[in-house]
Amino acid sequence: MTWSPTSWQEKNTAQQPTYECESDLLNAEQIVASLPPLVSSFEIESLKSQLAEASQGKRFLLQAGDCAERFLDCRPEHITGQLKVILQMSLVLVHSMDRSVIRVGRIAGQFAKPRSSDVEQSNGETLPSYRGDLVNDITFTKDARTPDPDRLVRGFERSAMTINFIRALIDGGFADLHHPEYWDLGFVEHSPKASEFQSIIESIAETVVSREHQSSDDVFDTDRVEFFTSHEGLHLHYEQAQTRKVPRREGWYDLSCHFPWIGARTTAIDGGHVEYFRGIQNPIAMKLGTHDVDVEPLLDILHPDNEAGRMTLIHRYGTKRVHDELPKLIEAVQATGKDVLFVCDPMHGNTKTTDSGIKTRDFDAIMSELDDSIAIHQSLNSTLGGVHVEVCGQNVTECTGGARGLDEEGLHDSYESLVDPRLNYEQAIELSMLIGQKLS
Ligand code: PEP
Ligand code: CO
Repeated sequence: MTWSPTSWQEKNTAQQPTYECESDLLNAEQIVASLPPLVSSFEIESLKSQLAEASQGKRFLLQAGDCAERFLDCRPEHITGQLKVILQMSLVLVHSMDRSVIRVGRIAGQFAKPRSSDVEQSNGETLPSYRGDLVNDITFTKDARTPDPDRLVRGFERSAMTINFIRALIDGGFADLHHPEYWDLGFVEHSPKASEFQSIIESIAETVVSREHQSSDDVFDTDRVEFFTSHEGLHLHYEQAQTRKVPRREGWYDLSCHFPWIGARTTAIDGGHVEYFRGIQNPIAMKLGTHDVDVEPLLDILHPDNEAGRMTLIHRYGTKRVHDELPKLIEAVQATGKDVLFVCDPMHGNTKTTDSGIKTRDFDAIMSELDDSIAIHQSLNSTLGGVHVEVCGQNVTECTGGARGLDEEGLHDSYESLVDPRLNYEQAIELSMLIGQKLS
């Protein structure tokens, strides 16, 4: 079948909202399609070559951010908080691994969510499930839950504002590595790990100054911090609208972000998502772990030419299944002879619900899946080239554990996530220290 940005529409496509009015959807799609792109093919190709190096163990991918961005989070405090936590995590990793870190946010477009059911019931009423702010509103009323195509335009605009602000902050020296001591450490100061973190920051500042005039391929990108965007490419009308040809390059690019991924629930080989993703030139990722997936035929379709940096596999088996499942995945990929970048998402396989009905994840389970993944890759002569985590730059209380020992009672204090529980600032920095120690 010939590929086009719309060829996915001929396939069965999971996890799409049902809109009441087809022409309103088309109208919204046309507006998004007419607006300027959020990223350029140059940036996309540069990321692809960096990901190729990560698959060889020369760089490390840090992909992090909200589970679901909310429209109301498109404000400066939230964006700077997310940028800051990702930058600080990356610095901790660079410091201990002495490898460049590729920073990718789940940001500026992470607005669409897969759900296990199309509908939700409450007090005898049945309404469409919340599918992310790109689709509907979480309030449990008919009006709020009815998918609204206009949200595609509003989500795209917020993504543009978000990425614009990030670019301005970075260009303006927000992340100046000459002065990490200026970075507001906030409540990390009160963490049991504060002094360890403080000394890492001081040592980074010293290293940057002393390496200033050394080789240009230094692990510290002192001239310009690079930052890339990613989201789950779930809502295919949205992705399609920003899929373009660019001058002087072959093929089509999804210009809504640098690095879209296929979620674990939309990997059906004959489904719309695999069809859409096979045709774009971006580096792509695929999450694996919810059920048995035959990876070889998927790689045939999505990674046919074994292009360097094209394909990232994000495994998320959970700490109980990783021993059994990860070796099978690694061996199946090795049997194809193709290069992929392996990344561990230690969050999504470790979600549980407390007795009082709160969705959480435990820090130790997250760290344990990471530990095991590192060891399993090593034992099979493979490379774990990155991590994919849900984090929040604020002091939320959504995951239990960590140095401060947040317990289930404490989850009530500041739980904000609309979908999955994120590590808070302190837990995120602690996780980076532990990963850095394992991989140094
Ligand atoms: C997510 O990344 O928020 C998500 C839904 O993950 P997965 O596809 O791995 O379940
Ligand atoms: Co999530």
